Amino acid sequence: HLDGATGLDGDGDGRAEQADRFVLDPATADMHADNDRLRQAGPLVPITAEGVPAWAATRYATLLTVLTHPDMSRELHHWTGRHAMPPGTAIDRIVTDTSLLNAEGERHRRLRMPLTTAFSQRRLNGLRPRIEELTARLIDRLAELLPDQPVDLRLEFAYPLPREVISELIGIPARHQDELHRLTDAVAQVGGLEDSPGLRKELRELLDQIIDERRGTPGEDLISDLFALHEKDGGRLSEDELFATIELLFIAGHVTTVNLITNAIGALLTERGQLDLLRSGQCPYSAAVEETLRWDSPIAYFPMRYAVRDVEIDGVRLRTGEPVLACFASAGRDPHQYGDDAHVFDVTREQFTHLAFGHGPHFCLGAPLARLEGEIAIKALFEAFPDMALARPVEELPPLDTLLGNSTRTMPVVL
Ligand code: HEM
Repeated sequence: HLDGATGLDGDGDGRAEQADRFVLDPATADMHADNDRLRQAGPLVPITAEGVPAWAATRYATLLTVLTHPDMSRELHHWTGRHAMPPGTAIDRIVTDTSLLNAEGERHRRLRMPLTTAFSQRRLNGLRPRIEELTARLIDRLAELLPDQPVDLRLEFAYPLPREVISELIGIPARHQDELHRLTDAVAQVGGLEDSPGLRKELRELLDQIIDERRGTPGEDLISDLFALHEKDGGRLSEDELFATIELLFIAGHVTTVNLITNAIGALLTERGQLDLLRSGQCPYSAAVEETLRWDSPIAYFPMRYAVRDVEIDGVRLRTGEPVLACFASAGRDPHQYGDDAHVFDVTREQFTHLAFGHGPHFCLGAPLARLEGEIAIKALFEAFPDMALARPVEELPPLDTLLGNSTRTMPVVL
């Protein structure tokens, strides 16, 4: 466990003292530089995340092991630390404990299975025209702006698109969308529902109201699917689980995709030669999406896993209950995996293997959707505004002030 001479908190056997730990700083000016230092320190590095000690899985191969290891669990009850708050409070507790993200084994399968139809390739192919339509509408709005005035594409383009798509997929009526997004954004801001009982109550009430409305008028949406299953099987998903699932999809399906689209715009406007490869048709736009996922992962650090028993990974001994943080952005630039040009944004890479969507049983359910949205959005945007240019270099843009997301707070461009 974490206490005393053997755990992460103290050192009897050569482990880092609190003072020697890397402190993950949400307000860091250069997360990739921090990650370079972390990776150089080792495959599993003692860190402090939001004041709580944990291990960071910094390298691609190590992260892959951690994500698939039978002795590593997402279930919080395995944690044996003595701190009042579990590790990574703000980043890990954005979603309710009962959600599938925090479940393992049979319970995880039971919660995940009903969602697989909604996110199947077939359903998504059906969504393509709708995503294209929403994208075209946003682009028309942009085209009405003064072409030589900087416009923030994170706010005006990357943000609304995934939000509308996920709302439709889930079945959130248009009149509730603003309120729901205000609440989930606020949750992400304060760092978690546990930390804000008022927000939790408001969010729960709103989602319950939406679910009740769908009950009366079922349609081709996820809430209706889940609800049908819910009734048919005599409560296969409890009310709490239904709530947690919808809330998770809402949070997981939005900001991550906003970051992906924002980061891809930034990368392509910085590396114009890469953009030319897409424009000339030498590389598909999907290659830019994959390379962005690797090179500038929308998620920086998330989530924790806990050792269910003493276990050794890459030569490091973890004690039962010790937490390990997944460093997705770091793994994406690991020279052990990608060679000396790991830091180069290159849409012509032969293979785009990356861990940005995780791996194993918790592999991102929304990956096909995020890829589809990213590709449609980037292609349409660059086709509509071929002369678009950054209003400020990306390095000068303020980064998000969170350990979870990796992006800039704005993306000002001149169309
Ligand atoms: C899980 C990344 C978009 C829904 C995950 C995980 C990652 C991830 C890394 C695995 C977490 C773990 O191993 O514990 C991303 C990225 C996205 C994205 C980078 C966008 C670029 C989406 C979208 C949706 C979604 C659009 C839904 C509409 C989920 C869900 C899980 C998940 C439900 C939990 C799966 C489980 O625990 O079994 N995502 N995601 N994600 N993601 Fe995504």
